[in-house]
Amino acid sequence: MNDLRTALADLLDGLPPREVAAAVDRLIANYRGDTPTHAPILRDRADVAAYAAYRMPATFEAVRSALAALADVLPGWTPAGHTDVGGGTGAATWAVQTTWPGERAVTVLDWAEPALAVGRRLAAAHPALKDARWQRARIGADLTLDDTDLVTVSYVLNELAEPDRAALVDAAARAARTVVIVEAGTPAGYARVIEARDRLIRAGFRIAAPCPHSAACPIAPGTDWCHFSARVGRSSLHRQVKGGSLAYEDEKFSYVAATRLPAEPAPARVVRRPQIRKGQVLLDLCEADERLSRGTVTKRHGDLYKAARDADWGDAWPPYDSAS
Ligand SMILES: C[S@@+](CC[C@H](N)C(=O)[O-])C[C@H]1O[C@@H](n2cnc3c(N)ncnc32)[C@H](O)[C@@H]1O
Repeated sequence: MNDLRTALADLLDGLPPREVAAAVDRLIANYRGDTPTHAPILRDRADVAAYAAYRMPATFEAVRSALAALADVLPGWTPAGHTDVGGGTGAATWAVQTTWPGERAVTVLDWAEPALAVGRRLAAAHPALKDARWQRARIGADLTLDDTDLVTVSYVLNELAEPDRAALVDAAARAARTVVIVEAGTPAGYARVIEARDRLIRAGFRIAAPCPHSAACPIAPGTDWCHFSARVGRSSLHRQVKGGSLAYEDEKFSYVAATRLPAEPAPARVVRRPQIRKGQVLLDLCEADERLSRGTVTKRHGDLYKAARDADWGDAWPPYDSAS
């Protein structure tokens, strides 16, 4: 992440702060729309620099968090190839590198040339990303992807109409053995993740994370939404572009990681921030038997109680390294 921050600082160096701030305002207005667009939103270098400074640290952390959950379920696995569709400035390529450092074949596809150009420039600073291929591609019915180990689709479904979302998930399912989809942690983002999850299961995938099973999601539609939170440290650069003085912010995201590889998902997952009370921890769990439950772990549970005090929203439960 520090490498990414340094690369972002270099990128903004020399751009007038007022121009970047104006581009951030335009982006916020565009993304608030939550509707598919017919032409790229990221039109020029100021737009893209603003996107990179304003959103990339957060999308990076969300993807990194989803990939960490996937890596826990597939210990020993390292993707030999990665394609990031709608990859923009390449946040997911940095997240894949952080999760599984090393050389691999990396392709980033997007229809916005200015985003690809900035992504390429940022990646030049990373030894394992500098040879990535940055290619123009439009997501639609005729999208075909080369075979690869891992396809990521991060904060993209939101910008697509339903037929294009379906075409993208189908293309990813044909090309990759493992697919990770990340969306904003809103009810609409969750609904798009569930739509993609169902499609991947129909294509023969099993869910690796966050769900402990590949059956239907136990959340009754419209009553709640499954989402998680990733802490994003704000650099002075980030504060300058976004305003405010907080040292961090929490990025809410929904995701699904699905695979054709043999994977044993977590027995349960913590789906809300654990509540710590005197001598006990309340855990809201999504369980392998396809239901949501609230468990209470008390001091009497010994080591498990210690683990519960350390448990975080989004963690597997019980933790992978717990003895019990
Ligand atoms: C919100 S950005 C996310 C970028 C990156 N994946 C990330 O997580 O930071 C959405 C990206 O999807 C791309 N995109 C949207 N619709 C597209 C389409 N029909 N074909 C190709 N790319 C598209 C945009 O150009 C943009 O780079």
